[in-house]
Amino acid sequence: MTTAPLDLRLSDRLSTASPSATGAVSELARRLVSQGRSVISLSEGELDFDTPAHIQHAAIKGIVDGHTRYTGVGGSPALKAAVVRKFARDNGLDYTASEVIAATGAKQILFNAMLATINPGDEAIIVAPYWVSYSEMVKIAGGEPVIVTPDASRNFKITPDELASRITPRTRWLILNAPCNPSGALYTRDELRALADIVRQHPRLMVLSDDIYEKIVYEGEFISFVQASPDMRERTLTVNGVSKTYAMTGWRLGYAGGPAWLIKALELLQSQSTSNPSSVSQVAAAAALDGPQEFLDVWRERLRARRDMALSILQGAAPLLTITRPPAAFYLFANCAGAIGTRTPKGERISTDSDLARYLIEEAGVAVVPGTAFGLAPYLRLAFALSDERLKLACEQIVAACALLTRD
Ligand SMILES: Cc1ncc(COP(=O)(O)O)c(C=O)c1O
Repeated sequence: MTTAPLDLRLSDRLSTASPSATGAVSELARRLVSQGRSVISLSEGELDFDTPAHIQHAAIKGIVDGHTRYTGVGGSPALKAAVVRKFARDNGLDYTASEVIAATGAKQILFNAMLATINPGDEAIIVAPYWVSYSEMVKIAGGEPVIVTPDASRNFKITPDELASRITPRTRWLILNAPCNPSGALYTRDELRALADIVRQHPRLMVLSDDIYEKIVYEGEFISFVQASPDMRERTLTVNGVSKTYAMTGWRLGYAGGPAWLIKALELLQSQSTSNPSSVSQVAAAAALDGPQEFLDVWRERLRARRDMALSILQGAAPLLTITRPPAAFYLFANCAGAIGTRTPKGERISTDSDLARYLIEEAGVAVVPGTAFGLAPYLRLAFALSDERLKLACEQIVAACALLTRD
């Protein structure tokens, strides 16, 4: 009997999606570490702080008290109530329980939002530099990312004209992320209102406001999109989570507020995939949202000090690296145009930001993410959410490695 040759393949849906580039750098760093090399990672998008003790204890008590079973798909009534309170208290948004959802990270909400609303060929406007996953999520959902790259001199903030010029009959989403990962860009109330004026003219257009870095603001004030223009409520999904604010990346708990029909669709997708987010993480997240917030001021000041220290050391790498002080989030987005065309001590040419990132990890023992991963080259993203000593050492090693680059 002859057997037919195997013909196994992945779906077309996956043919255009790429794995997370930030993950690839972390992976290379882990490999070098496992070979005994010392690598300082500036590539991680997470705080080095521990989840605060009151949140840890709430979770442990939650387990003991029996919060170990399935909950409602979109979160327990207790967590939903805490999310409703949070939006009202911090953002002046009056969502009801049927207009909020909790999920396994903000990432799950963003992914499901694309899956729930995008038909093949639909477009989503994404502002570069952008968080790596937006474009891939849009593609996996069958849509087309439309990348807009605002001027660096405006800190990469999209203008109303830029937005208007990229809207087509197929545009479904404007994805806004402020404070932005990786640029730290923060929009003022007036800037958000001016964007809403354009959005208002397009009945199919929705806005995804990814507010996940809202508490990490050093200069300026955070305003959520709907807060700036309340009439945008019916077409905006306001996404947030406990990962970045409360040092809870591993707990996998995100939440969102939006129109009830969309929240219902997100619940439907969750009900057929992951069901509720971890019951224990829900208890912890409710404690985080309802608990004391004062420690966030202390964390922010520690981060501000790290940002300023890193910037002052990295000035030593100018003009190979030029960096604008970010007003928010915990990343430096360094322009590395000055390093392109140089040679390493081994004679290898630095032609791209990825070449420079590879050189820095191999020679300086510092892992950073090339701007290419965020849709803008030549840049490097350096996360400064790690201990002062390690951050200082990493920046000094970058400066020393840059000093070894030569021009022909
Ligand atoms: C801009 C942005 N949105 C969303 C997320 C995902 O957060 P979560 O851990 O809640 O899935 C991240 C994580 O890096 C992020 O940087």
